[in-house]
Amino acid sequence: MTKIIAHRGSKGTHPENTLAAFKEAVRVGSDGIELDVQLSKDNQLIVIHDETIDRTTNGHGEVGRLTLAELKQLDAGNWFEENPMFQEIPTLKEVLLLLKNENFKGLLNIEIKTDKIHYEGIEHLIVQLMKSQHWPFEYMYSSFYFKSLEKIWEIEKNQEIASVFRLSKEDEKKALQTEFIDGIHPKIDWVFERLEDVVDFPKAIRPWTVNEEEQMKLCFMLHLAGIHTDFPEKALQIRKLIQN
Ligand code: G3P
Ligand code: MG
Repeated sequence: MTKIIAHRGSKGTHPENTLAAFKEAVRVGSDGIELDVQLSKDNQLIVIHDETIDRTTNGHGEVGRLTLAELKQLDAGNWFEENPMFQEIPTLKEVLLLLKNENFKGLLNIEIKTDKIHYEGIEHLIVQLMKSQHWPFEYMYSSFYFKSLEKIWEIEKNQEIASVFRLSKEDEKKALQTEFIDGIHPKIDWVFERLEDVVDFPKAIRPWTVNEEEQMKLCFMLHLAGIHTDFPEKALQIRKLIQN
């Protein structure tokens, strides 16, 4: 069954990459949750999509030039007009503890945001945190930046690793040729372009961002391993309808 992975939490209904969004993703019964990790000036693992705080908070500047204490002053929720609320920028550890407390039993996809800024040592810090205790859910690593995936593989052989890309043939080829890459996370357009190859593709396919009903239905009918969606509740309803 195609896993429904809540993209940046339930991004369509709650401010992305906040505890409220992850809580909502668990509440609706998402099979998986995706989040993005960047590094602060004082080497703290921060859950935020952009390299800057400008779009999703009331502050300005680069995540990597601010300390955790400075980032914690910001409001990362009221910018979201559809459902404004005060939210702090969470650390990765805070999200992990929330998922544990919420009894999340699905798959956590940790996307390492190193394609624009190659944060020194971020892979080690993430693996160290993940290994620091037993988490009662599955987790996997993904990135647009191949070198991050290689670094993860050097230090962590037990978890799934996926390559994230848009439509690039080169990235696809690299993922296919690299044994430690278990899956690909392409842009949904890739699925439509490669319909004939998808069924026999030798690695797990979990495209993003699958928000339209027709896209969801296609992915379910193709039995893809998963989809990343901003609307997990809607995706769960559609998957249920198809199964009945
Ligand atoms: O990990 C899948 C997807 O999140 C990749 O794109 O830009 O939303 O992080 P982005
Ligand atoms: Mg992401």
